[in-house]
Amino acid sequence: MSNPYDPQTPAKPEYFGGRKKVLDSVSERIESAKFHGKSGAALIYGHRGVGKTSLIKKIIDEAKGTEDKPANLLYFYRRLGRTTNDEELYRFLTEELIAAIDARKSFIERLQDLGKRIENINLKQIQLKISSDLREKSPYQIWKSCLSKLHSVDYLLIAIDDADFLSVEAIGELKSIVEDVCPIPILLVISGGIQFEGKLVDDYSPVARIFSGASFNIGKLDQSETEEVLKKPLVNEKTKWDTESVSEIYKLTGGYPYLIQCLAKASYEENALITKEQVRTHIKDAIDIGKSWLNHEIPNASDQDVLSFVKIAQLEKNVFQSVDMAKAGIQSVYIGRLVKLGIIRKISRGRYELQKSPIIAEFEKLKRGLS
Ligand SMILES: Nc1ncnc2c1ncn2[C@@H]1O[C@H](COP(=O)(O)OP(=O)(O)OP(=O)(O)O)[C@@H](O)[C@H]1O
Ligand SMILES: [Mg+2]
Repeated sequence: MSNPYDPQTPAKPEYFGGRKKVLDSVSERIESAKFHGKSGAALIYGHRGVGKTSLIKKIIDEAKGTEDKPANLLYFYRRLGRTTNDEELYRFLTEELIAAIDARKSFIERLQDLGKRIENINLKQIQLKISSDLREKSPYQIWKSCLSKLHSVDYLLIAIDDADFLSVEAIGELKSIVEDVCPIPILLVISGGIQFEGKLVDDYSPVARIFSGASFNIGKLDQSETEEVLKKPLVNEKTKWDTESVSEIYKLTGGYPYLIQCLAKASYEENALITKEQVRTHIKDAIDIGKSWLNHEIPNASDQDVLSFVKIAQLEKNVFQSVDMAKAGIQSVYIGRLVKLGIIRKISRGRYELQKSPIIAEFEKLKRGLS
């Protein structure tokens, strides 16, 4: 088997570990859509590299069901890579919906070939409708008109990754997408950066309400989740992690999945029992793996700055007060330095916000051998 650990791509659903609370909550919303026809939404937000995309992909994978028991849904995933206004949003939703219907059609035909009887969606009818709509209707009307034709599925799952790129107007539309009348319920799963939720609550509270009860700030994993991430790819493999190696990886990475992947990739050896010593021997290799992203984030930070950054990261709060920092043992002279380095930002008197991903703090700590 080749090395299954990889920090550079989102986790494969079968290798995904932890985040049970989020998965349970989304699956409750799915039940509610399936059995009570209720639309809903969930928001996943967090610092760079904490695992938002991996989690969205896992949610989709769970929603799809299994080969033996496939779920009856339409789904699509879209990552945003540039500013997207409301019209563009509806245009790409329509585009993705048509592709999702197409995918569902092939899937059902495959099942029918195997002798299973399942009702199909009439794609042609929807396509005809769109081509006649295209001439006179707005992207919003075309989207609504497509939805109005949907039938024969329990619900539609829409996943939008990196929603920070949505314009103010497009964010406003999220509420209509979830709340407008539609023949089938819609479940909207959105991911955003660490500031996304605060921005929603402060500036667009009616939109924030669609996520109430299902808004998740994801961060580090705990030790048992770390163990899951390490062990999942090795089911049926001879390679094993011993107990001490798992706690060592957890300690050295602070439980951040990106760093867990770096250290696991560096320490992996085929058909071996991997020990704590082996993990320690490969710290430098792990740092080399993580370097391309992490090495240039805070080039001018001193060791003391890094230690202060680690203490702030350990508060596990995005917004905090000077007193929180004082309690964590950060001297006031360092607060100014952290602001200068772009690690924290002053919001108002005595209130600060963490700007840089805590993964950077743990990476620098590991690289410099600080503890
Ligand atoms: N729950 C998890 N189980 C296993 N590996 C994970 C998990 N979450 C994240 N990872 C690993 O961490 C790395 C970063 O994850 P991912 O790309 O999902 O983060 P992200 O928050 O979407 O990052 P970005 O902010 O750059 O979009 C990936 O290599 C992935 O393999
Ligand atoms: Mg991502």
